[in-house]
Amino acid sequence: MLKLTVMVSGGGTNLQAILDKIASGDIRNAKVVKVISNSRKAYALERAAKAGIPSQCITRKDYPNPGQFDQALLKALQESEADLVVLAGCLVVIPQIVVDAFPNRIINIHPALIPSFCGTGYYGLGVHEAVLSRGVKVTGATVHFVDGGTDTGPIILQKAVEVQEGDTPEVLQRRVMEQAEWVILPKAIDLIANGRVEVRDGLAHILPEAK
Ligand code: GRF
Repeated sequence: MLKLTVMVSGGGTNLQAILDKIASGDIRNAKVVKVISNSRKAYALERAAKAGIPSQCITRKDYPNPGQFDQALLKALQESEADLVVLAGCLVVIPQIVVDAFPNRIINIHPALIPSFCGTGYYGLGVHEAVLSRGVKVTGATVHFVDGGTDTGPIILQKAVEVQEGDTPEVLQRRVMEQAEWVILPKAIDLIANGRVEVRDGLAHILPEAK
């Protein structure tokens, strides 16, 4: 059983998709053991409480210096006994000491098709604003392993979403969440939990289902 610790910052719709897909059996051999938020106001914490999952808030402003925040986050993740850390709508830049402690065991959902519209400054609604400003006709979402960079780790799954005439950033964000994020993040977790993802030469490979 793969133990998941899910890191959140906001509404928690990606967390909810994970919980729903575990309940429906679409995600097999995994369970959420802890939710960690960097914001006390995150509705994701309500979702965790409703699901009876322990949660903790670790926010930078509670620590006098960045190193203490980094250590507190690492300690909380290690104490949660996570096999896999899932960044689900998480806006925290993951400290290198955490990445080093969980090599290829941290995944992130990015609301665009990496390497487009990603990297420093590209998060949340701003991603969709940039997509509309550029006039691309297809966008989507990406699940990737987290390495020391921003949105630079091995790509596990991607799903394309059509940009429609008249889209606002909010409408496009919702479509990307519904049609892509809430589909590929649970799928990636199921693949990892069932031994079907392998990283070789910096690339993530999806292994065929065992016969
Ligand atoms: C979503 O746009 C997600 O792609 C981004 O954060 C936003 C909120 O996600 N990472 P959630 O509802 O908190 O899961």
